Amino acid sequence: MNSENKDILVLGIESSCDETAAAVIKNGREILSNVIYSQIDLHTLYGGVVPEIASRKHIDKINQVIEEALKKANVTLKDIDAIAVTYGPGLVGALLVGVAEAKAIAFATGIPLVGVHHIEGHICANYLANAQLEPPFMCLVVSGGHTHLVNVKDYGVYEILGRTFDDAAGEAFDKVARAIGLGYPGGPKIDKVSNEGNPEAIPFPRAKVGESGYDFSFSGLKSAVLNYLNSCEMKGEEVNRADVAASFQQAVIDVLVGHSMDALEKYEVKKFAIAGGVASNSHLRAAFEEACEKRGVEFFLPPPILCTDNAAMIGCAGYYEFINGVRSGYDLNAVPNLRLGER
Ligand code: KG4
Ligand code: ZN
Repeated sequence: MNSENKDILVLGIESSCDETAAAVIKNGREILSNVIYSQIDLHTLYGGVVPEIASRKHIDKINQVIEEALKKANVTLKDIDAIAVTYGPGLVGALLVGVAEAKAIAFATGIPLVGVHHIEGHICANYLANAQLEPPFMCLVVSGGHTHLVNVKDYGVYEILGRTFDDAAGEAFDKVARAIGLGYPGGPKIDKVSNEGNPEAIPFPRAKVGESGYDFSFSGLKSAVLNYLNSCEMKGEEVNRADVAASFQQAVIDVLVGHSMDALEKYEVKKFAIAGGVASNSHLRAAFEEACEKRGVEFFLPPPILCTDNAAMIGCAGYYEFINGVRSGYDLNAVPNLRLGER
């Protein structure tokens, strides 16, 4: 709460990929509403997100989603103290829809505007799920576009310890799922089919790249899966899809957990969080829970609905930027390659 003891309400808007979302957040931590329109069914037809279709669908849905978020929170725009919108990274046409909408509302009402980094939003989902969580802590962000190991030093202050050299973790899940005929989106399908597979059936590689020891690479793993499938085909051997899925997934989890635990030890951090779409993977959640418990590290994880793209996390990140005095101008633009910590 601010010095006048008045609640601060933030309207969050998210449209960076294939979810059109709006949410109302009270004092940074309480979700009053969280409305998500997912376009997944539309893109499934094409085996992946089609940027042009995503932008058009955002335009169709954004007003309706915002109206619903206000209604569900039982507020009107008159009650809103700030509008937080994702302005990068993401698909430029998709981002522009949310940014233009947020600017239009801010201009028409005079409500302050705050541009939010999408990855910062993912990290902040942990504040919504865990009222006690305060920085400093370490966070692994694993999504369709990003794999970042981040030292969260304070609200809005980030040090990136490791990042992917090539594919993001979620991208690898999606590509491998396509290769074994599971379809899009791959992550949840691999998660499910792995329950029937043996994670030790196929020894896929665990890549070590970069000097820090905390960077990631998943393209070699993806190629190893494709080579395995090709060699089975050439030998006329039947592929056990559940075994391939479980073994691939285990290789990803081993690297993510291994790097994270090494970094926690080196930096002597005792609080660890996960975030992003891949963080909703049930096997990954269990593996981190076990690894953290073994080392006496306190483990935080958002519920799956706050791991995949949503606007509640953007409202939360926007709140902390807002109370730190951050304001965006009406010239706020979409920045598809925005880096964490940059403005
Ligand atoms: O965070 P997100 O919704 O969007 C981006 O910012 O990229 O993440 C989407 C990614 C997709 O690659 C999807 O396959 C993956 O998260 N994902 C999962 C699971 N649910 C979503 N990956 C593994 N297991 C899951 N259960
Ligand atoms: Zn995301």
